[in-house]
Amino acid sequence: MLETDLLPVKQRPSVADTEATRAVEQDEEIRNMTEEQLIEGINRLRKERNAVILAHNYQLPIIQDLADFVGDSLELSRQAAKTDADVIVFCGVHFMAETAAILCPDKKVLIPDPEAGCSLAATVTAEQVRRWKERHPDAIVVAYINTTAEVKAEADYCCTSANAVKVVQALPPDREILFLPDMFLGAYVQQMTGRRMYLWPGECHVHAGIRPEHIQGLFDRYPDADLLLHPECGCISQCMYALAEGELPADRTFVYSTSGMVRHVRTSPVPTHLVATEVGILHRMCKEAPHKRFVPVKEDAICEYMKTITLPKVYRSLRDMVYEVTVSPEIADRARRAIERMLEIV
Ligand code: 13P
Ligand code: SF4
Repeated sequence: MLETDLLPVKQRPSVADTEATRAVEQDEEIRNMTEEQLIEGINRLRKERNAVILAHNYQLPIIQDLADFVGDSLELSRQAAKTDADVIVFCGVHFMAETAAILCPDKKVLIPDPEAGCSLAATVTAEQVRRWKERHPDAIVVAYINTTAEVKAEADYCCTSANAVKVVQALPPDREILFLPDMFLGAYVQQMTGRRMYLWPGECHVHAGIRPEHIQGLFDRYPDADLLLHPECGCISQCMYALAEGELPADRTFVYSTSGMVRHVRTSPVPTHLVATEVGILHRMCKEAPHKRFVPVKEDAICEYMKTITLPKVYRSLRDMVYEVTVSPEIADRARRAIERMLEIV
């Protein structure tokens, strides 16, 4: 059930001209460094600072290649929680670095560009969640990890694309559920669990743009391929319907988090994979399964927020120890409770 009168949704953040971009362009040292020098500098500084570099699966290839760990939102949270490094350089978007800061209050968490936002996280504010809860005072609030710390603080449980179904399945069957902010993921979870939920009408502009017409005819062109879908995709409900009707092959169609997709291509004997998510993941897939073929379902499914993290910004981040991501202890304690409840389930 969608409660659209709770809008307006906030404006999409812009990364056209960020402060960090201007800073590296104007930096005398950085401007004159080659790619090799930047990588050498990053390697020296990460040792000196006892820093770990975490990168999301959608990061630019060069960033994935230098990271200590590349993963999906759930894996990156787990890595952050268990690292013994003093500094975490988070190459991803802001809510991911914030999650690391919530889980590691004693560590310094840096993001190379704090304006790396997320169009999905921007669709809901803590004030909107409070108003929604007033309307459903007995409901359990499940917040996708793509939310700000303030929104997580209003939630009872957090979830990621890797565990949303399991989290909802673990909830008492007689309670109402408010699921936010991704309506496509929410609809998918409803279908998989049979639980009726109230859904926040938010979406990620990149995945919402992957529409049923991008899927249509794919298996005619690639009859031996597997289709891998991210549950944020705008086509997910139609794909689930097509699966139920036998219009998509059940043994060839899979719904996964980004790292779930990577595990699939690593182990599946199938030579061709049709990939319905942000295209940055193709770099990781090609590295993990170099002899296989990967076809993006939508070639221009590109997240500009993820791509705003660049090599010069990572170097500057470690050199100048910028930009530190902090969350107030009161918000962090409440948000941590929702994240830890999720980690207890999966
Ligand atoms: P994953 O948790 O599947 O990596 O997804 C994160 C995300 O931002 C999807 O757009
Ligand atoms: Fe957010 Fe979408 Fe980018 Fe993921 S791909 S970080 S959900 S804007």
